[in-house]
Amino acid sequence: MAAPRPGRVLVAEEEIRARVAELGRAITRDYAGTNPVLVGILQGAVPFVADLMRGLPIDLTVDFLRASSYGAGTSSSGTVRIVADLSIDITGRHVLIVDDIIDTGLTLAALKRTLEARRPQSLRTCVLLDKTGRRETEVTLDYVGFTIPNVFVVGYGLDYDGLYRNLPHVAALDGI
Ligand code: IMP
Ligand code: MG
Repeated sequence: MAAPRPGRVLVAEEEIRARVAELGRAITRDYAGTNPVLVGILQGAVPFVADLMRGLPIDLTVDFLRASSYGAGTSSSGTVRIVADLSIDITGRHVLIVDDIIDTGLTLAALKRTLEARRPQSLRTCVLLDKTGRRETEVTLDYVGFTIPNVFVVGYGLDYDGLYRNLPHVAALDGI
């Protein structure tokens, strides 16, 4: 059987650029004067964080953490552990979690609980893609780029089996 490949483009490069700039303007307004910490979730959020931060003309800190859900495949198992933690203390800071996609919501819900326990001054979430139809737990999202249907997507940070993160757009994965 042929390996799955990127197929139809769901979100074009130019649409991403325009929407990320819009999100940047909203975040700039909301965080003016607060020196927030952007927490990017490795590895998928790398392109999004890189583009988003350059649209934020405010003093901020960027840090990353890597979470791993047990089990492999194309869906989340629900158990999340931090395999590479932040390098700074977020106590008393305004924290904005930045992730590529929310699907079941289990990863983001668990990360929010973990970071909330460190007593940040505020904790909000920003995701590029929202698969609303798949939610298994309620998670408040403060900034959302695009709502997409329930298809497995790759590109702009999102991978299938470690591949296709480098595509400049978001495409549906064909052949799974
Ligand atoms: P959740 O815990 O089900 O919300 O899953 C979130 C994580 O699963 C994301 O951060 C991605 O790493 C991965 N994921 C969910 N849907 C997709 C997809 O369509 N393409 C690639 N990765 C996905
Ligand atoms: Mg991810």
